[in-house]
Amino acid sequence: MKWFITGGAGFIGSNTAKHLLLKGCDVVIFDNMSRRGSRSNMEWLEAFGTPRLIEGDVRNREDIHHALSVHNDAEVVLHLAAQVAVTTSVVNPREDFEINALGTFNLLESIRQLNMKPVIINASTNKVYGSLSDIPVRDMKSRYCFADSGFAVNEKRALDFHSPYGCSKGCADQYMNDYSRIYGMRIVNFRQSCIYGYRQFGIEDQGWIAWFMIASMLNKQVTIYGNGKQVRDVLFVDDLVDAYERAVFHHDKAVGQTYNIGGGIGNTLSLIEFTEKLESMLGRKLPMLKSKTRPGDQPIYISDITKLHDDLNWKPKVSVDEGLLLMYEWVKSNVHLFKDQPSEHHRTSVISR
Ligand SMILES: NC(=O)c1ccc[n+]([C@@H]2O[C@H](COP(=O)([O-])OP(=O)(O)OC[C@H]3O[C@@H](n4cnc5c(N)ncnc54)[C@H](O)[C@@H]3O)[C@@H](O)[C@H]2O)c1
Repeated sequence: MKWFITGGAGFIGSNTAKHLLLKGCDVVIFDNMSRRGSRSNMEWLEAFGTPRLIEGDVRNREDIHHALSVHNDAEVVLHLAAQVAVTTSVVNPREDFEINALGTFNLLESIRQLNMKPVIINASTNKVYGSLSDIPVRDMKSRYCFADSGFAVNEKRALDFHSPYGCSKGCADQYMNDYSRIYGMRIVNFRQSCIYGYRQFGIEDQGWIAWFMIASMLNKQVTIYGNGKQVRDVLFVDDLVDAYERAVFHHDKAVGQTYNIGGGIGNTLSLIEFTEKLESMLGRKLPMLKSKTRPGDQPIYISDITKLHDDLNWKPKVSVDEGLLLMYEWVKSNVHLFKDQPSEHHRTSVISR
């Protein structure tokens, strides 16, 4: 099977590509290599096969159109290329819009004009649901909980875009759904919560689990914004790749659908709980600063993964403790990859996706 992956040199893309290469799939990666670590990820992939790399930018419609026209026999298009940080989107909303909204539109238009019929998987985000401020939350000792402990966010929740990133990804999410509706394109839309795992070059603004681990190995101080009780449902990247693959395999069921995906109720973590686990792995205290809550930082987000389970028989296989240990071991044995991590990156928060 031939997969065309935009943003394939990034964290989720390189993990997906590795899995596909090991299965003998044909993998084409379209990436502008802007993310730190993308070149290193491409070198790492060479051990598993021969992915083809096309350096191009989704903002440039000629780039993406030409790449797709050469690979118009791709059976799957996985769209991962994005500006991925909320904070960066606030600093440069135009760039964020052009990459996430216009870039997605360029991709969809090329596929339509080229009359291609791939299964298209879109990596959307839980940020399309906004702050969830109407849902009652309880303040516990080391975490927030939904007042209804069985509550999690399902796909019927009203959209409420917050932040330029929320708007640009939400726009892409809605274009995906509409191209499926209007043009009959075979699209599966995943609204992803917090994903973590190997090859994640986390920075303070995005990829908080990775960033905390990297910073701890480099003896850098991190700052916790807010009281650290913020909760996310976290998902190890292998489980996400499994869901992508199931969506392709069961495309008769998945096409035209939107799925919330994360660790779900069984795999949640607060920042306080995470730092305690990390300190116990490190065998020492983490140097930490505290600062006030950053705007837009949801106190708690948990995905309802029932629909994904019912439709695709998917559920997370990697528990939080297993995943954190795998991640810790990977960061520990790859510290050299992070040595030139920019020193101004001291801040961190669960605001990241
Ligand atoms: N990691 C998460 O927790 C998470 C959560 C929700 C949604 N997502 C979404 O999943 C997707 C992949 O995320 P990731 O964590 O692997 O991010 P990443 O930054 O590691 O990967 C994104 C890749 O896209 C490339 N890219 C950026 N701008 C581009 C452009 N203009 N043209 C072509 N390529 C470009 C980058 O070089 C990078 O290799 C993104 O769409 C992101 O919004 C991620």
